[in-house]
Amino acid sequence: MAIKEIGKGENLIGRSLKDLEKYKKEGTGYLGKVLMSSGERPVLGSKILIDLAKPHLVLICGKRGYGKSYTMAVLLEEMARVSPAVRQRLSVIVIDTVGIFWSLKIPNKENVKGLSDWDLKPAPTNVKIMVPKGKLDFYKEKEIPVDGAFTLKASELEAGEWMALFRMKWSEPAAVLLARVIENLKETLGTYYGISDIISMIKKDNESDENTKQYMINRLKAAQAWGLIEKQGTKIRDIVQPGKITVIDVSSYRQAIGMEGTKDIIVALLGKRLFEDRMLFRKEEEIKLIKGEKRESSMPIVWMFIDEAHMFMPKDEDSLALKVLLEWVRVGRQPGLSLVLATQRPNKLHPDAISQCDLFISHRMTAKPDIDAVGALRPSYMHQDFDKYFAGMPRSKGFALIIDDNTEKIWMIKVRPRLSWDAGVTASAFLK
Ligand SMILES: Nc1ncnc2c1ncn2[C@@H]1O[C@H](COP(=O)(O)OP(=O)(O)OP(=O)(O)O)[C@@H](O)[C@H]1O
Ligand SMILES: [Mg+2]
Repeated sequence: MAIKEIGKGENLIGRSLKDLEKYKKEGTGYLGKVLMSSGERPVLGSKILIDLAKPHLVLICGKRGYGKSYTMAVLLEEMARVSPAVRQRLSVIVIDTVGIFWSLKIPNKENVKGLSDWDLKPAPTNVKIMVPKGKLDFYKEKEIPVDGAFTLKASELEAGEWMALFRMKWSEPAAVLLARVIENLKETLGTYYGISDIISMIKKDNESDENTKQYMINRLKAAQAWGLIEKQGTKIRDIVQPGKITVIDVSSYRQAIGMEGTKDIIVALLGKRLFEDRMLFRKEEEIKLIKGEKRESSMPIVWMFIDEAHMFMPKDEDSLALKVLLEWVRVGRQPGLSLVLATQRPNKLHPDAISQCDLFISHRMTAKPDIDAVGALRPSYMHQDFDKYFAGMPRSKGFALIIDDNTEKIWMIKVRPRLSWDAGVTASAFLK
C-alpha cells in the first residue's frame, strides 16, 4: 500500500495516489493527528500531513472561536518549513482582515508544555507584514511589527472599480463624470496618474454641474487620505516573492465609514494581477517543459489565504473581489493558484467556493443553515450526515473533520499546536 511508503504512522491528504508514489511526502506540511477515540479524554493516533505543492481549494469552516484562524496559522507555519526546493516554487499571500497574523513572527512561549506533548518547540515563522501606506502610523502606534507598506496603482482601477470603491451607481451624475474623466486621463497621461490628477481634471470639466463636481472631489479627497491609491503603486513582485509569505494586513480599514470598499478593491486588484501574471508564466513554464528544460519561471505558484472569506465571496451580493476569486476557484488550478478560505458562515459564502473545494476542513459547527450549506459537498464516500460527524467531535478547540477529494477519504483530526504566538486569543475580562 502506497501510504506505508511515506512513513509509519503518517497519512497524507490532498495528494493523489499517483503523486504520492512519485513525490512521497516531499512538499507536505504537518497539520495534526488523527482522532482515534473521542469522549472525555480524546486519544490521538497517527500524523496527518497535507500536500502544499499542488494547487488546492481549501475551505475551513467552523463556528466562532473553534480554530479556523489557528488552523490557517498552522498551515502558514508549514508553508514556511517545506523543503527549500519546493518552497522556492511557492509564494504565499495572506489577506488579514482581523490583524492577527503578524504574531507568526513571535515564538509561542505561552504553550511550551502543550508543544512538547507533540514533540514540538516554540519557533518564529518568517513572514513579511505589509500594511496600507497611509496606515503605517496606526500600526507603529500599536507597536505591531511591520516590514513594508503597499499602495494600489491608480490607473489599474477601471471606472467600474472606482464606482464599487465609492459604492456609487453608474446612473449617478458623479459616476458619469468620474468615468469620463478617467477615460480622458488614460488618453492624456496613459497609466501614470494619481488622485490629484483626477481632481484637477474634474475641476477643468465643463460638462457637469458644480455640485456634482464638488461632490466627486470631496469623495476623492477622502480617498486620498486612506493612503491606499497612488500614481506609482507597489509592484506585484514586491508583494509576491518566491519562498516568501506576505501578510497583507487590511484590518485598519475594518469599520471606518466610507471605506467599505477598500478591502474589496485590495483583494480584487491583487487577485486580478496574480491571475493574469500566472497565466502568462504558466505558458512560459510549459514552453520550457516542451523544450526539455526544467519547469521554472520567476513567478512561483501562488497560495492566497483569506480569513473571513464570506466578506469577499458573498452569496447574495455583488463584490469586486467575488468576480476575481470565482475565476481562481473555477480555473485557478491550471495556472497554479491555490486558495485557502476560512469562514464561520458557509451559509453566507458563494456556493461555488463550497462545491469546488477539494479539501474541506471543518471545526465544530452547530448552526443548521451553515451545516446545510456545506451539505452540497456530500461526496459518495461520505457515509453519514454532517450533523452526525459534528456530534461525535470532541468539544474542545482544534478538532476538525476533513473531507479530502484527492484521496476520497474522511478524517477526524486534532490540529497541532502553533509554534508561533497566537494573537487571536479570545478577549477576556480577566487580566491573566
Ligand atoms: N488546534 C488547536 N490547538 C489548541 N488550541 C486551539 C486550536 N485551535 C484553536 N485553539 C484555541 O481556540 C482559540 C480560537 O481559535 P481561532 O481564533 O482560530 O477561532 P476562529 O474559528 O478563527 O474564530 P472566529 O470565527 O471568531 O474568527 C485560539 O485562540 C486557541 O486558543
Ligand atoms: Mg478567526
